[in-house]
Amino acid sequence: MTTLEFTPERIDPMPAEQREALLRMPGFGSLYSDHMVTARWDAEHGWHDARTGPLAAFSLHPATMAFHYGQTIFEGLKAFWRADGRHALFRPGDHARRFARSARRMAMPELSEVDFLAAVTALVRVDRDWVPRTRGHSFYLRPFMIAAETHLSNRPAEEYLFAVIGSPARPAAEPAPIRLWASPDYVRAVDGGTGTVKCGGNYGGSYLAQREAAEHGCDQVVWLDARERRYVEEVGGSNLFFVEAGRLVTPPLSGTLLAGVTRDSILALAPRLGLEVVEEPVTIDDWERGCRSGRITETFACGTARAVAPVGSAATPGREWTVGDGTTGPVTRRVLGALLDVQHGQAPDEFRWLHAV
Ligand code: COI
Repeated sequence: MTTLEFTPERIDPMPAEQREALLRMPGFGSLYSDHMVTARWDAEHGWHDARTGPLAAFSLHPATMAFHYGQTIFEGLKAFWRADGRHALFRPGDHARRFARSARRMAMPELSEVDFLAAVTALVRVDRDWVPRTRGHSFYLRPFMIAAETHLSNRPAEEYLFAVIGSPARPAAEPAPIRLWASPDYVRAVDGGTGTVKCGGNYGGSYLAQREAAEHGCDQVVWLDARERRYVEEVGGSNLFFVEAGRLVTPPLSGTLLAGVTRDSILALAPRLGLEVVEEPVTIDDWERGCRSGRITETFACGTARAVAPVGSAATPGREWTVGDGTTGPVTRRVLGALLDVQHGQAPDEFRWLHAV
């Protein structure tokens, strides 16, 4: 098997002054770097046509299969500026392996870990000036793959397009605690479904519940299991942790949850902070009672895009409760701090998570 080479084309980048002004404004997902990486797959050639060129629109036939049958997958990973002036990707191998698992589940061709790493590394190298140099800020990479064959048959496509784009992520200095809504009507994932992978439909299918949450004055949905509608599974597109009597508790990967890389990082880092970690089921009733009795003092969501986000309160029809005093708690702050220390190279990288670019 040959490996892909994403040699950059020469382009005119955005003038430095304009780029620096944009990088000073907080935001996520609305700002893109100068380049993108692409490659194509078909049965005859396998992966081929690797490029690093200017960020540009695709021209796609209306019968492109991705528009109709939802064969689309993505990843989200970050590159960080480090105190020593170098850049590093955070756990890119784990994202590469999850991208391959998503591809397998969606009957799409797998991209090897070597090619995935070559693609994300090529984009960070060529757009390194887009990596923000502020702690907590990062360069968010969005690798994705779509069914690119032009055909209306209901079957896996025979041609695919892979691309990586980059977007500086500049969170607000002090994110406000979020309020969660447990929907009585909608579920995110079922046993044997696609809940464990990052396919577009998992996200599109959640937006009606998200709208219901907003109608009830909430920011995000807290997903309950589909079978009994009792067990807390995820929040929006993120995993969830509870701080309960000095322990960090998170729902186990039951077969319907996404195996978050941030979730896994927190499970590894927490013992270094003197926190016991436990993966065990938590029902919505446990959570409410724990908050009311003071046994659960904090709750936070975590994911690559948002890092660690405090949860201030929750609601479901006829019930609502506050977590702790509704503000960001000390454990949430310490966990976020420990994660950022590693990501920015300000703490020893004992798990070898950083991949220098
Ligand atoms: C991520 O944290 O990378 C996600 O997948 C969230 C994204 C849907 C914005």
